[in-house]
Amino acid sequence: MKILAIDTSCDETSVAVTEESRILSNKVSSQIEFHKKWGGVVPSIARTMHNENIDFVVKEALKAAKIKIEDIDAVAVTQGPGLAIALEVGIRKAKEISEQVHKPLIAINHMEGHIYSTLAQNKSGNPHIKYKFPMLALLVSGGHTEIVLMREHGMYQIIGRTLDDAVGEAYDKVARMLELGYPGGPIIEKLAKEGDGEAYPMPIPMTKTRSTDFSYSGLKTSVLYLTQKIIHKDLNKDQKKKIIADVAASFQKAAIASLVRKTEIALEDLKDEHIEDILLAGGVSANLALRKEFRKIFGKRYRLHYPTSKKLYGDNAAMIGVAAYYHLIKKDFADKNNLERLPNLSL
Ligand code: KG4
Ligand code: ZN
Repeated sequence: MKILAIDTSCDETSVAVTEESRILSNKVSSQIEFHKKWGGVVPSIARTMHNENIDFVVKEALKAAKIKIEDIDAVAVTQGPGLAIALEVGIRKAKEISEQVHKPLIAINHMEGHIYSTLAQNKSGNPHIKYKFPMLALLVSGGHTEIVLMREHGMYQIIGRTLDDAVGEAYDKVARMLELGYPGGPIIEKLAKEGDGEAYPMPIPMTKTRSTDFSYSGLKTSVLYLTQKIIHKDLNKDQKKKIIADVAASFQKAAIASLVRKTEIALEDLKDEHIEDILLAGGVSANLALRKEFRKIFGKRYRLHYPTSKKLYGDNAAMIGVAAYYHLIKKDFADKNNLERLPNLSL
């Protein structure tokens, strides 16, 4: 059963062909270079670029999978969450293809896609990897920070979520404050390696309470005050560089500590569920310091799952195709005439 999957939820035009959990192709056309100069994603630019690229990316994905469009068994598309006018482009294209080849349409939640990025396998990968349910997922992206209990395929219960900014958003905003560029995550991670995480102790967000919810706006404000206090001092280039690296490391330390602590609290609260598997996914899960801390704290007691290759950490359509397989086997199809974008869709 081959699925053609499309994701245009943010600033990547992506089309993939998948077969169960196997990736036959996964094309990602990134727009980052075009958004960079604005310091973040500009929705109208995203829509224009998705419109310009989508046909080409569909063609490339089919070519790389070595199949014709008539050979697919279903079309999957991200319905939300994401930028409304960007989602729209993928949905329209998916409807068009589904009509053209007379194959069913499957609507996928983008965050569900991130979950399934941990099952998606390249040709050399192991297609038999399975989770043992119930499983706990920590989803960390530019728009979301969520702890999700998954009892079986397609069954999600939100255990904790951010009350304000998502962790990826905090990375992006901190990078902007430090005038480092966009997207902030990879830049801050790299700088943090050279900095001292103890230099500027920062409050670890929301860890005074036993809540499983997150908050990142306070941490972001701490960084703002700190940069106002120190960056404008009369310092030479090297001194400034050192301070920026220390701020990045101190911010990252607190950001990661919060993710780990909240996951610990969720696991304590859910101890009667006998969870054995934990999954970490979404753009921020590309962060090696976060994965290292996760392994250190949870690696002995739990089986940990991450996206299986670099391309699967960020937004991509292969994860949408793998998630769609579990809808396909249940014949959970979308109604072509009623499928609409849902920018605020939750799990
Ligand atoms: O999942 P994703 O690609 O898109 C959304 O669905 O939002 O996540 C993008 C987010 C951005 O905020 C980006 O700064 C962050 O993931 N990110 C990282 C790293 N790589 C990407 N954050 C921390 N460390 C990284 N290495
Ligand atoms: Zn995403």
